[in-house]
Amino acid sequence: MFLEDVKVIENIQIADNYYLMRVEGIKTPQHSKPGQFFMLQCKDSSKVLRRPISLHNVDGNILEFYYEALGKGTKEFTRLSTDETINIQGPLGNGYDIDLKGKNIVVIGGGMGMAPIKYLIKGLKDNNNITFIGGGRNAGAVKIIEKFNFENIELKVATDDGSVGLKGNTVDILKELLKNKDENIDIIYTCGPHPMMEAVAKVAQENNIRCQVSLEERMACGIKACVGCSILTKKGMKKVCYDGPVFESIDIVDVDVIDPNGGCK
Ligand code: FES
Repeated sequence: MFLEDVKVIENIQIADNYYLMRVEGIKTPQHSKPGQFFMLQCKDSSKVLRRPISLHNVDGNILEFYYEALGKGTKEFTRLSTDETINIQGPLGNGYDIDLKGKNIVVIGGGMGMAPIKYLIKGLKDNNNITFIGGGRNAGAVKIIEKFNFENIELKVATDDGSVGLKGNTVDILKELLKNKDENIDIIYTCGPHPMMEAVAKVAQENNIRCQVSLEERMACGIKACVGCSILTKKGMKKVCYDGPVFESIDIVDVDVIDPNGGCK
């Protein structure tokens, strides 16, 4: 884990409140894994705590962060201009297990859960068969997919309002896929709203498929120094910022244990 001042290369609006920031780092890019996150310091650090932001992609020395500007801190990020610096802390958390070869993989991202997906697919696609299911409320929520630019993966999109792809949700597509696919699915990776992950985990369990979920919790410190992100798992209390954010769904999910309001029941 490093503390690094990085230079903003680009900070653009993708759609609605969704933004993509690209920064140039020195130490952080080479140590970052898909599924990890960073704590980003706001411009006015006296006002707000660092904000946890998922790592979206790494491209050479460039780190990409896809974020939603909703609160005070993330709105501050949108005001960062090219060549300004921002202090980042990370990489933090465990990341997805991507040490796989020759597997049939389904990756499911919903809404802001699309944030870790690009780098995850990048880490898996050369050695595995990937189907990516992306979903969101509307066209704006899935617009980031246009920037993924992956070849040789199967892409399926669903939106709640039907403005892009299928009118429905990612779980509908997953169920359809399981009905029609000739080959078995070896593993599902997912990130998104908790109800979506709960439903994905349930389908995975019913079909005996390994499933990794990336939990998003409120995080104050990001470095296991408070109790803000503690959750109860089958293996005891865990801190999402340190033991996660990626967990095997069977460790946290007895099918219905992901709490839609965050954390586990
Ligand atoms: Fe403080 Fe995880 S955010 S312990």
